[in-house]
Amino acid sequence: MDRSASPDERAARLVSAMTTDEKLTVLTGYFGTQAPTNDYVFPEARLQSAGPVRGVPRLGLTPQWQSDAGSGVATQGEPPAALQRTLLPSGILTASSWDPAVAERSGSMLGSEARASGFNVMLAGGVNLMREPGNGRNFEYGGEDPLLAGTMVGAFVRGIQSNHIVATVKHFALNDQETARRSINVLIDEGAARLSDLLAFQIAIEQGDPGSVMCSYNLINGVHACQNDWLLNHVLKAQWGFPGYVMSDWGAQHDTVLDANHGLDQETGVLKRGEYQWLDKLAAAVKRGAVSPARLDDMVRRVVRTLIAKGAVDEPVSPAPIDFAAHAKLSQAAAEEGIVLLKNNGILPLPRAKTSIVVIGGHADRGVLSGGGSAQVYAPGGNAVRGVGPQHWPGPEVYAPSSPLAALRAELPDAVINWYDGADRTAAATAAAHADVALVFATQWTAESLDFPLTLPNEQDALIDAVAHASRHTVVILETGGPVLMPWLERVAGVVEAWYPGSAGGPAIARVLSGAVNPSGHLPVSFPRAQGELPRSSIAGKGAAEDYVVDVRYDEGAAVGYRWYDKNHREPLFPFGHGLSYTSFAREALAARLEQGEVRVSFRVRNTGKVPGKDVALVFVAPVAGGWESPKHLAGFAKTELLAGARRDVTVTLAPRLFATWDPSREEFRLAAGQYRVTLAGSARDAGSSVVISLPERRLPAGAGVAAPGAPATAK
Ligand code: BGC
Repeated sequence: MDRSASPDERAARLVSAMTTDEKLTVLTGYFGTQAPTNDYVFPEARLQSAGPVRGVPRLGLTPQWQSDAGSGVATQGEPPAALQRTLLPSGILTASSWDPAVAERSGSMLGSEARASGFNVMLAGGVNLMREPGNGRNFEYGGEDPLLAGTMVGAFVRGIQSNHIVATVKHFALNDQETARRSINVLIDEGAARLSDLLAFQIAIEQGDPGSVMCSYNLINGVHACQNDWLLNHVLKAQWGFPGYVMSDWGAQHDTVLDANHGLDQETGVLKRGEYQWLDKLAAAVKRGAVSPARLDDMVRRVVRTLIAKGAVDEPVSPAPIDFAAHAKLSQAAAEEGIVLLKNNGILPLPRAKTSIVVIGGHADRGVLSGGGSAQVYAPGGNAVRGVGPQHWPGPEVYAPSSPLAALRAELPDAVINWYDGADRTAAATAAAHADVALVFATQWTAESLDFPLTLPNEQDALIDAVAHASRHTVVILETGGPVLMPWLERVAGVVEAWYPGSAGGPAIARVLSGAVNPSGHLPVSFPRAQGELPRSSIAGKGAAEDYVVDVRYDEGAAVGYRWYDKNHREPLFPFGHGLSYTSFAREALAARLEQGEVRVSFRVRNTGKVPGKDVALVFVAPVAGGWESPKHLAGFAKTELLAGARRDVTVTLAPRLFATWDPSREEFRLAAGQYRVTLAGSARDAGSSVVISLPERRLPAGAGVAAPGAPATAK
């Protein structure tokens, strides 16, 4: 407890003062939910939480109170009202803001609610790349591009940890689908992994400095992630120099000796007596020499050093009141930054004059949808729509009580707004035919442990078709976890992707529709035209038994998302980076120069329309001579706010690593000397403007920390 000493020193003293039992205590996490079993080993857990780890009161070491945290302080199952918490927009929505400050503010709010709820270890941020648009957890993650996802999740982690608690980057690594998640064996070339999924983690870790990394359920090239020496010891700890601790995903630990020796530091989620790998099994393994005492101490040191370094020891968490009204505003502001206007033939923003509007479907009279599973947050007021979806975990569908219908009525007091639940398609279509505008809300619930078809469920396509057939003034508002197919796209006048918009999603959607907010969200993922356009025509492993290893080949390698479409000359339904505004922008005067080893890109953005707005500029790079696995990579981006008619000069710094490929023989990144095209664009399908820059050869160690990628662009 000597605060004048460094975390390293304090941790060393602490470890040397601990008995073996105390060491094992710090390394063993229990499942928090109040399981109704006689074997249950930790009844004093925080109610409906992910888990606790006992502390060592004798030495002043705090217990670890873990909570899931993808979009707020989560609860396992429906909580009592006292445990309802602010629901943030989903991770994919936050990534759609393309603004790290939005992610950081959200993380900081979340961390403050965690602290006030008595949690000091948060199980977020999730940074698995979207390889499968049907992955049921895409809503928790940061999209398909390593730079964007790593930057946004890194900022989220920074925000959480600003509350002197620990955040956990997960699920390390390549846990890109939920089907057969415990037995899927991802086969991927190492170089491809280094330029895709691992790069997303690397950037998130560099930028967020999380205290912990959670290893995933799946296998990678034949070895479980939590006992993968290459992944944990070699890449994460040795090459990247990660000083924190590796915790297992709940039940992802398999073998005491292999796990301990290959890099796992803390076992989590122990539910029943005997169902653990650590404790006496680890003590016995140390005794017989299968795990060295030094390694045991290293595991403990990593955990306690992290708790000290992040502030969890010196500033113990304790229950405190939460300002839910202020946090709802923050959640709303974040949603308003990330809702994406996908299509608009001029119908939006809705006219403020006397208009007749019919609102249809999606339970828009009561609330907005959220994603299911361990990240589930019950917003203040509880589930606004009961009895929908599976009635067992990861269900049910949970709606935050924030009605878009009510918000629209408040936003447009002069409009006549009628409501149809959409169950009767004919009635909805008839109403649409007699109204000036029809707004159809369509939902797709997604959740942990499941993957989903890309088609909207419950015949919502037929509902949209019927309404669009009756009215040319139909706008579809989607609340989805990831991309969906839109067979009706040509027949509707507008489409808004609201993702899962959080506690105050109703007003956020209403304000985008009314124009009170000028949409500035852009897609962090490509939307496919059909499942058949993707690297795999279906998600592997369906129906596989739990213990049966299923191989899935990631032959697309690092060509994930837009890189896949580019490489294969395929047109997505909506490209990565796409997003419309109620104003227009011009991006001009692109220049690139080499300064102190980094490429500085400068350009000017002008708001050429009539209302204030925010532009998102994407900077792609590619070797002029070709030779990468796909034509181009995102290397920078900038969101710029501009009044109508205003202009701003913007500078973005591109990290050398983003021009590099992986050299497997030397295990380092290599930037080949030559000419590189730097393209400034509005999306992955926008030709934009380009300049060419010559770069000298550079070699960058595997763990070359780079502060630059995605560091907020400077605008002057
Ligand atoms: C999930 C993790 C989560 C953990 C604890 C697991 O099933 O994969 O993301 O943090 O449970 O709830």
